[in-house]
Amino acid sequence: MKKGTIMQRSSDELLTFIFDSISEIAKINDNKQLLQALAKMGRDIVFADRCTIWILDKQKNILWTKVAHGIEKLTIEPYSGIVGDAVQRGEALIINDVYADSRFNSSIDEDTGYKTETMMVIPMKNRRGETTGAIQVINKQMNEVFVEEDLNQLRLASTYVSETIRSMFLLEEIDATQKELIHIMSIVGERRSEETGDHVKRVAEYTKLLAKLYGMNEEEATLLCEASPMHDIGKIAIPDHILNKPGSLDKKEWEIMKTHAELGYSMLKGSSRKLLKTAATVAYEHHERYDGTGYPRELKGEEVHIYGRIVALADVLDALNSKRVYKDAWKEEDIFNHMIEEKGKHFDPRLVDLLIANKEKFLEIRDRLKDEVDA
Ligand code: C2E
Ligand code: SIN
Ligand code: SIN
Ligand code: FE
Ligand code: FE
Repeated sequence: MKKGTIMQRSSDELLTFIFDSISEIAKINDNKQLLQALAKMGRDIVFADRCTIWILDKQKNILWTKVAHGIEKLTIEPYSGIVGDAVQRGEALIINDVYADSRFNSSIDEDTGYKTETMMVIPMKNRRGETTGAIQVINKQMNEVFVEEDLNQLRLASTYVSETIRSMFLLEEIDATQKELIHIMSIVGERRSEETGDHVKRVAEYTKLLAKLYGMNEEEATLLCEASPMHDIGKIAIPDHILNKPGSLDKKEWEIMKTHAELGYSMLKGSSRKLLKTAATVAYEHHERYDGTGYPRELKGEEVHIYGRIVALADVLDALNSKRVYKDAWKEEDIFNHMIEEKGKHFDPRLVDLLIANKEKFLEIRDRLKDEVDA
């Protein structure tokens, strides 16, 4: 029996790794490359030798894959073999002696001459909880075995992989795929902080409303709305003990927290796509303040891009209205008083006027997209 768990990442290393992977994936222009990058991420996240992403085709009743390190294209019967069993039962598996497992179908090894020894399989599920395929990693490097922690790390990536693939199939258009990617990445970011999921949806709607009130045309308002969920993507690289600290942050922790703006920018800036470029600007400038006392660059007035000014207001509006690990939700009256108080200080005065003049429309969004679970 093989032993040892040297090939593990600490949670900080894991975050850095996911961060780097997503930065790379954001630059990709082509679906085939995208699949390969996802498989590589799956493989490297747990130090496996190979990763295969299996996709369930319910109509043809097969599991198929395009991406397999060293293998070109394969199909297997669903519900047969180890992968089939994991998919059928919707359960993740760790198998450290594959040939001793009666479910194992060695015909693929026989065809390829590759010896499978250890294996992990995680069924991929879509947002509705339906199984869409599986991520399979084979042979932990250095002759080690897979352990529970590997499974957890791979699980973290699996929703991301599943949703990315789903969007690839649903939406042939690269631009549309990109939109989905943005959404998924923001979910990955959000998962890490102990906040309920509707924050990004509300920020997106406040953003769109503000943009339109400000006079932006429908197309640009929609672009900004779709980019806004990414504003805090850089938080993915902030350690848990800071991100989810119940109390206030000390000076050092605060310095680290503030880096999320520039980190988000550096993740997205490499893209040549309009949507990701917009998201990069938003991530970079959503904590600048109109009076020039914000971060990271202390931009002032209209030096702050209108995208940054709009999302800044939308983000704070929602943050004040929400309970966070470090603070309670504010009363409605206090929120609006605060926004007025900060007119020309934190926020663009024109935007504050638009907010106050259209208060009911913002409250309608808040009430419609209330967090389902109230902690
Ligand atoms: P966040 O919780 O999403 O808050 C976004 C922004 O809303 C904050 O940006 C701030 O401008 C505003 N905001 C939120 N809560 C309050 C509040 O109680 N009073 C006032 N005046 N403004 C508030 P900021 O300050 O740049 O913080 C950025 C992020 O840093 C926050 O995002 C949160 O994740 C984190 N953070 C800020 N302060 C603390 C803290 O005391 N403890 C912890 N654990 N995290 C904090
Ligand atoms: C199996 O699931 O039993 C075989 C599939 C593979 O080894 O790739
Ligand atoms: C997010 O949901 O993107 C992070 C939450 C926040 O803005 O603090
Ligand atoms: Fe932020
Ligand atoms: Fe936010």
